[in-house]
Amino acid sequence: MNMFSLKNKTVILTGSTGYLGKYFARALADFGARVLLLGRNQEKLDSLLGELQKEYPESQCAVYCFDQYDHEEARRQYERMIAEEKKIDILINNAFDFSKNTGFNDPSGRWENVTYEKAVTMFDSAFYWAFQAIQIIGPVMKQQGSGSIINIGTFHADHPPMKGIYEGTTIFNPIIYGPQKAALKLLTKRMAVELAPEVRVNMISPGPVPNTAGKSANAITKDDPVLSRLSKRILFDRMGHPTDLTGAVIYFASDASSWTTGVNFVIDGGYDVA
Ligand SMILES: NC(=O)c1ccc[n+]([C@@H]2O[C@H](COP(=O)([O-])OP(=O)(O)OC[C@H]3O[C@@H](n4cnc5c(N)ncnc54)[C@H](OP(=O)(O)O)[C@@H]3O)[C@@H](O)[C@H]2O)c1
Repeated sequence: MNMFSLKNKTVILTGSTGYLGKYFARALADFGARVLLLGRNQEKLDSLLGELQKEYPESQCAVYCFDQYDHEEARRQYERMIAEEKKIDILINNAFDFSKNTGFNDPSGRWENVTYEKAVTMFDSAFYWAFQAIQIIGPVMKQQGSGSIINIGTFHADHPPMKGIYEGTTIFNPIIYGPQKAALKLLTKRMAVELAPEVRVNMISPGPVPNTAGKSANAITKDDPVLSRLSKRILFDRMGHPTDLTGAVIYFASDASSWTTGVNFVIDGGYDVA
């Protein structure tokens, strides 16, 4: 028996059309899972679904399109998934809004400028989207007797950006990002306690995995000085790639992690210890 197999398992994956999400979706389908691809853009979702149907015809993925800021619609969609699926085995809270809404790459994210509304929007994206999904899906998993929840965190929950790292660039990481994801890290532990013993709740915290190819909100060019400044603290001689994370996703999703809960698994190329 392959303990990493995800055959007959159904996964809810938020932010599936994003840079990391697409790799997570492929890896999950590759290990046999039926992946429910969540996103806010129907065109992107249909395109990803089409690719997965071609590459992994047996995985029978499906799409659900809604904006996570619309909490009532999110609840309706999660309840639809519960009604339409025989069971939900895995929930991956990966979506995040890397736009001006949350103060990314924008002066509105600086500590001097953050308004109450901006702080709440950041809380919504970094914490509440995951919390709401856990609130709805967690009890279903508990009742069915098994389940695995994976929250995607960040190395910034433990490390503020280095002083001067963004100087002379258009890149900017808003003041509240790390603290809100740190709250999600603690929620991961609390929910591990609340949902045990049936449901495991863990977090994967990536270091810098820059999107240097795409056009997404958090894309960055290869020669941006932020990357060379960051690389000085990475023990391996390169930035992270999404495939550096997919092994951990499969581990936490599968029965291989059957005795693991409340863990924050940092994957950062050695940034933390450097
Ligand atoms: N990349 C890194 O270096 C890195 C490092 C540490 C942690 N992380 C974490 O990894 C996760 C994924 O990041 P990423 O780099 O893949 O970012 P990304 O490419 O921007 O993906 C984010 C995803 O969230 C979705 N999203 C944004 N706003 C939404 C909304 N209002 N409703 C529904 N979905 C929404 C996006 O949808 P669209 O596809 O429609 O834009 C996208 O699919 C995040 O939780 C992030 O904090 C990333």
